[in-house]
Amino acid sequence: MNSAAPANNRVLSGMRPTGRLHLGHYHGVLKNWVELQHTHECFFFVADLHALTTHYENPRGIPDSAYEMVIDWLAAGVNPSSATIFVQSWVPQHAELHLLLSMSTPLGWLERVPSFKDQQEQLKDKDLATYGFLGYPVLMSADILLYRAGQVPVGEDQVPHLEVTREVARRFNHLYGREHDFTERAEQAVSKMGKKNARLYRELRRRYQEQGDAEALDVARALLEAQQNISLGDRERLFGYLEGGGRIILPEPQPLLTPASKMPGLDGRKMSKSYHNTIALRDSPEVVEHKIRTMPTDPARVRRTDPGDPEECPVWQLHQVYSDDRTRAWAQEGCRSAGIGCVECKQPVIKAVLHELKPFQERAAEFEADPGLVRIILNEGTQAAREQAEETMDEVRRAMGLVYR
Ligand code: TRP
Ligand code: SF4
Repeated sequence: MNSAAPANNRVLSGMRPTGRLHLGHYHGVLKNWVELQHTHECFFFVADLHALTTHYENPRGIPDSAYEMVIDWLAAGVNPSSATIFVQSWVPQHAELHLLLSMSTPLGWLERVPSFKDQQEQLKDKDLATYGFLGYPVLMSADILLYRAGQVPVGEDQVPHLEVTREVARRFNHLYGREHDFTERAEQAVSKMGKKNARLYRELRRRYQEQGDAEALDVARALLEAQQNISLGDRERLFGYLEGGGRIILPEPQPLLTPASKMPGLDGRKMSKSYHNTIALRDSPEVVEHKIRTMPTDPARVRRTDPGDPEECPVWQLHQVYSDDRTRAWAQEGCRSAGIGCVECKQPVIKAVLHELKPFQERAAEFEADPGLVRIILNEGTQAAREQAEETMDEVRRAMGLVYR
């Protein structure tokens, strides 16, 4: 059976609750989310259950971390009127689908995921020989498949998890995609498209199935993609019906690879909390200025009159993110000729970072002043997410025979 209907326009991504975010998160992930929300139907969630897979021993800080993180999402421009923002554990369907998918997921698929062994070795102080940790990719599959998301923005490290998700979906559709009343339900779905479209769909389907007319298939697919008023379940049913297979209950998502963040930290290594080299989105202007002013520079520049080499200096890396060509040329020239001092060289960087952060901090202030607001946004997002999730679960339960009269 073909589970590869053309990717739909829905995007889903999650982030573990890690508390306040920094510029690495912004340049690596959030900026991309903010852009996607204008072109796609977006769902962004706090992956608090995922946090438990590695932090089950001390879960106390999770809710506070979640709120702080969501404030930073909103500050960075994720907009609740464009994207659905919610908390994973507030939508219990994630846990339910995780359980149901776990029934048919072969152990070997999970043991093979690189992060399973890697993380166990890296986080030696934690006992990760648990059922929950092994099942992490199944939980992630549930997150994605629950919303039948077509595209999932992730970093390189998450690609193997997405591959598991695709296999899990394919297996599920193979096992349960043949509804006994498939034809009847597909026909009902056809009628829901309206008379004219229904007639066109039937005609194209006939041409494809009777004569193998590939062009008719393309046109029919485009027709389905343009339908606004049918549910995702019916949509997948119509794709399956078109090609003569069974039903695609859980469509396979595509990774939307986000290039690894090149955001350098204050010491030139990648910006990361564990290196203590971050600029947080809500660091005050004074703190930002202090952090950049005290950044190490090329050690060759002991005195103001010693020339330096920008390639040896983490400040130069920030120029590459923040400065235009003219400013960069000025820094290069001034550094190599000792024409400028490091304090001077840092000024444009300080200015640019403050400029970038200013609107974030103004927005954050509103949410800090009224914590109830974040709660309301998450409640509303969760409500909307639950509706979509329940629609999928209804079909999943039915497909798996969990229907009692
Ligand atoms: N595993 C992801 C991470 O650690 C977070 C995550 C959980 C996620 N569920 C997801 C990302 C679903 C994308 C889609 O970064
Ligand atoms: Fe770094 Fe600029 Fe100083 Fe050169 S002048 S060492 S690039 S801060």
